[in-house]
Amino acid sequence: MTCRAVVTGVGHYLPERVVPNSEFEATLDTSDEWIRTRSGIERRHFAAEGETTSDMAAHAARAALTDAGLSVSDIDAIVLATSTADLTFPSAATMVQHALGMTKGFAFDVQAVCAGFIYALSNAHALIVSGQAERVLVIGAETFSRIMDWTDRSTCVLFGDGAGALVLEAQDQPGAATDRGILSTDLHSDGRFKDLLYVDGGVSTQTTGHLRMQGNQVFRHAVEKLASTAETALERAGLTASDVDWIVPHQANIRIIQGTAKKMGLPMERVVVTVQDHGNTSAASIPLALSVGKERGQINPGDLIVTEAIGGGLAWGAVVLRW
Ligand code: ACO
Repeated sequence: MTCRAVVTGVGHYLPERVVPNSEFEATLDTSDEWIRTRSGIERRHFAAEGETTSDMAAHAARAALTDAGLSVSDIDAIVLATSTADLTFPSAATMVQHALGMTKGFAFDVQAVCAGFIYALSNAHALIVSGQAERVLVIGAETFSRIMDWTDRSTCVLFGDGAGALVLEAQDQPGAATDRGILSTDLHSDGRFKDLLYVDGGVSTQTTGHLRMQGNQVFRHAVEKLASTAETALERAGLTASDVDWIVPHQANIRIIQGTAKKMGLPMERVVVTVQDHGNTSAASIPLALSVGKERGQINPGDLIVTEAIGGGLAWGAVVLRW
């Protein structure tokens, strides 16, 4: 038998305020049409004043626990992917731990920007298969609206806020490609590309900053790197693209999503797409898409899922799992 990290619960939270593309037309030289055709985004949610990343993460975590039929006392660890934690420290994960009333176990943040949830899943998987934790809450939560330059039309129309969470549980499985749970992971980063996507401020430079992105340069890397990491992860699991029921990609841009699916030889009917409703929620986008995909009835038990993301760093990667 092989110990697998199996998804037993999923949930999400989106802040109440929905901002349609048309809202940007009042303050920027942009249009609903430009945003839709270039990115696929139609609307996004923005956190309310005072609403923080850990608040949203705690809502999503509670929904995932309910879905799993578990209480917080069953959880051994929280791994939270975010680049927009409430404070420099302590971690947003420990704030969620406190908000949930969890007084045992451990909690920490993972920061790999838009690839954060892939990194968090990979870390949670390692904790489970090494026997360090049996049940882990894996959360992606972001308030990117706080790091936007509202005068920069090339970035501020693309991002949104939200949170999604999974419960991963250790389960003994036969040790075959038909097992449920995480079957393989593949992580990469290359700091030579750090200037393509960054926030121009931070603690050790004693500045606060805004997101800066050379979008067309990131785009060039995205399709190739995403298709390649997805294929590597599938190969590691002893599977191929033809075995995949759902691609659940990071939701940055519909053209990247379409290009990656095409490169993998899969039709868009097998891709979970939420970018039109959420915009780019960075590390929250994949757990949001998994939760919405389940709610829509797209994702069902036994489905083979490949999930992939790329973001600032550049950092990218993929996880193959059976739901
Ligand atoms: N409205 C109208 N025009 C705009 C807007 C806007 N909101 N934004 C940019 N433009 C203009 C530009 O100024 C440019 O004008 P010019 O030709 O006169 O110079 C023109 O549109 C084309 O700009 P490009 O940047 O070349 O447009 P592109 O087709 O590449 O689309 C986009 C831009 C949507 C940003 C795309 O490049 C993209 O999605 N890139 C990848 C983003 C991504 O995946 N990031 C990684 C994850 S994010 C993270 O890690 C935090």
